[in-house]
Amino acid sequence: MYAHGWDERNGGNISLLLDEAEAGDYLDLNHVIRTIPTGFEAPELNGKIFLVTGTGKYFKNVQYDPANNLGIVRLIENGTQAELLWGFTDGGRFTSEFPAHMMSHVARMRVNPENRVVMHCHPANLLAMTYVHDLDERAFTRTLWQMCTECIVVFPDGVNVLPWMLCGTNEIGVATAKKMETARLVVWAQHGIYGAGRDLDETFGLIETAEKAAEIWMKIAHLPRINTITDEQMHLLEARFGVKARDGYLS
Ligand code: 13P
Ligand code: ZN
Repeated sequence: MYAHGWDERNGGNISLLLDEAEAGDYLDLNHVIRTIPTGFEAPELNGKIFLVTGTGKYFKNVQYDPANNLGIVRLIENGTQAELLWGFTDGGRFTSEFPAHMMSHVARMRVNPENRVVMHCHPANLLAMTYVHDLDERAFTRTLWQMCTECIVVFPDGVNVLPWMLCGTNEIGVATAKKMETARLVVWAQHGIYGAGRDLDETFGLIETAEKAAEIWMKIAHLPRINTITDEQMHLLEARFGVKARDGYLS
């Protein structure tokens, strides 16, 4: 993500739901280093263990010092407290976007119990698009679908969009989670994007595909469009790849 330029400075954050038994192979789950208040409630996540990036930490440094830049936390007391089991060695804490991550996990797990990853980053073209494209979700989704043949296959549920909101708050967490009920991608206008999925590859691939489409749109938006992918062709893709486009998004 850093190599793609999606995560300047400390931009972006990831949370990964760990399998408890698997975490127990590496960690003493009875050894709590310290307990950190979360500032929100998420009873559904009681006892769940997450690997999560640290606030203010640079993605480019994770590979050199994972134990300082990442942490493993277990949520307790209805999600109001997080027990640090590993990491954040300089006394740090989880990303400031922890509310949006955890609330999005709850929302996505209801749709698909296999969901394990929430990923946030600042890809340049998606961000640029939010300055010049209508933020209507159907219009935004249709534009992205039209930019690469396989977009509709990768994200048939489309892209939801939040208007600019103050980041790092419970409010944007609640709003993001609400949007996550109907799509695995949520754009934060003038800020970045959230993706959710079963694993890191799938989630990265979702964002990568949407960002590629946005890049193409930014290259052509100012030129007369002579050709496009028609809705009829979209329906052929649905049939060929066994996907169903979001209701009402195709004619
Ligand atoms: P953190 O450093 O707290 O993860 O914040 C980065 C970011 O992208 C905020 O939206
Ligand atoms: Zn951000």
